[in-house]
Amino acid sequence: MSRALFAAAALVGTCLSAAPALAKSAYDGVWLFDEGQPKLGPNPGVTMMEVASKGGKITGSVTTQWYGPVEMQDPHVENGVLRFTARNINDREHPTRDWSVTLEAGKAHLKGQIWESEVDGFGRPGTAKDAKARAFRFTALPALGAPIPKTLAATPPMGWSSWNKFAEHIDDKTVRAMADAMVSTGLRDAGYTYVNIDDGWQGKRDPNGVLQPNAKFPDMKALTDYVHSKGLKIGIYSSQGPRTCAGYEGSYGHVQQDAKTYAEWGFDYLKYDLCSGEWFYADADTVQRSYHEMGAALQATGRDFIFSLCEYGRFDVGRWGRDVGGQLWRTTGDITDDYPTMAKIGFDKNGNPDWAGPHGWNDPDMLEVGNGGMSADEYRTHMTLWAMSAAPLMMGHDLRETSPETLAMLTNRRVIAIDQDARGVQGKAVRKDGATEVWAKPLADGRVALALFNRGDAAVSLAITAQDAGLREITQVQDAWSGATSPRPATAYAIPARGAALIVLSGK
Ligand code: GLA
Repeated sequence: MSRALFAAAALVGTCLSAAPALAKSAYDGVWLFDEGQPKLGPNPGVTMMEVASKGGKITGSVTTQWYGPVEMQDPHVENGVLRFTARNINDREHPTRDWSVTLEAGKAHLKGQIWESEVDGFGRPGTAKDAKARAFRFTALPALGAPIPKTLAATPPMGWSSWNKFAEHIDDKTVRAMADAMVSTGLRDAGYTYVNIDDGWQGKRDPNGVLQPNAKFPDMKALTDYVHSKGLKIGIYSSQGPRTCAGYEGSYGHVQQDAKTYAEWGFDYLKYDLCSGEWFYADADTVQRSYHEMGAALQATGRDFIFSLCEYGRFDVGRWGRDVGGQLWRTTGDITDDYPTMAKIGFDKNGNPDWAGPHGWNDPDMLEVGNGGMSADEYRTHMTLWAMSAAPLMMGHDLRETSPETLAMLTNRRVIAIDQDARGVQGKAVRKDGATEVWAKPLADGRVALALFNRGDAAVSLAITAQDAGLREITQVQDAWSGATSPRPATAYAIPARGAALIVLSGK
């Protein structure tokens, strides 16, 4: 019987329940989706579709590199088209999406959507053996282990990461150049220590499952040696999912093995990004266990790793981030190099201050200072917000192209000292009025940093009081940006549109 006839039979089968002999659908079987079809990947990376029907009831799944098998919900044949819905994540308005399959010249034409990815490609018929070869291999998640004791990151980590400027276009040569520039600019001596490779370094696994770097990173050990020789440390990136956010190989099923590999290569820092893992670990319990699994694997290597959790602030991560071995945890989605996004994150999504302190920090994402998308006043607000928030200071620009103004902003010792203050308090707003906000951050030596922000589009003049800093009396004021000191605050501070002032008050 031709496939078209099968389709007709399936249609009849769904209408007349008393026809089990005709109840097979034309879609039954294994369909193989080969690489090279642009709308199949990298996300979700469709590899196979399996359909079976019994007694008129169709079941099936679409196997993907990101999420493993995506189950067909309510599959049914309608006018010769196999239709189903599938779970969709990251989009509250569309918890499921509609998918369809038609048969065209002996191939299955699959169309659908999952999150931001449109799927449109053709599958050829395959065998049960093919299905076995392409089947997704599930790995069990261990139970939550005991809290992992931590001694690293007494102050928020500082360094540089490749993502904001280079995205996937990162290679060994550029990382070395960043290490060189970190030293020659004086950024290292200002406290920036970590040179972090973000997504895009991964190649394939060898037959033993050991992950290899891609061709852009010919020798990881030589690279870490080089960075270490400059008096710096070096970081790497992965995901607990099968795929990272940019579609590279993740650590799913290889957690302990990957931790061992990073340690052998000589890395000092791991950013672990949920990405495709969100399909498997979609609640507080499993997300936490998935981070703990890697935290414990890093600990088992015996090497010191800063463990950076990147799950965009889900499930009140600051509450449990330390217990899974993390020293910093992202509080938001990604920053971009524009004022509205930076301000939204820095003012409103920088994490619950109660969770921040020595060895564990809210991470509102990496810096964009120096990337060119904001004005000098806006970048000053960016840097002031991050310093007041005791946020990790991970630069995100091409260090070779650091202008004198950018360098002055990034290396201001007084501003860095506020960020790095040993007391580790995350500052917060003590007063909001229209477009203005006054933030306070008590420091270890008893002084109080006050930031004056103007979120509006017109300049304002803003006065402060001792009470803003929780003091009875102010005895000295230092402008953190300029270094100028005076015995008392200005009558009013002129704050440009989208700008900030940062002062440190002594008093009692
Ligand atoms: C996510 C993270 C980013 C970056 C990219 C890499 O979007 O939030 O910081 O690591 O993945 O693909």
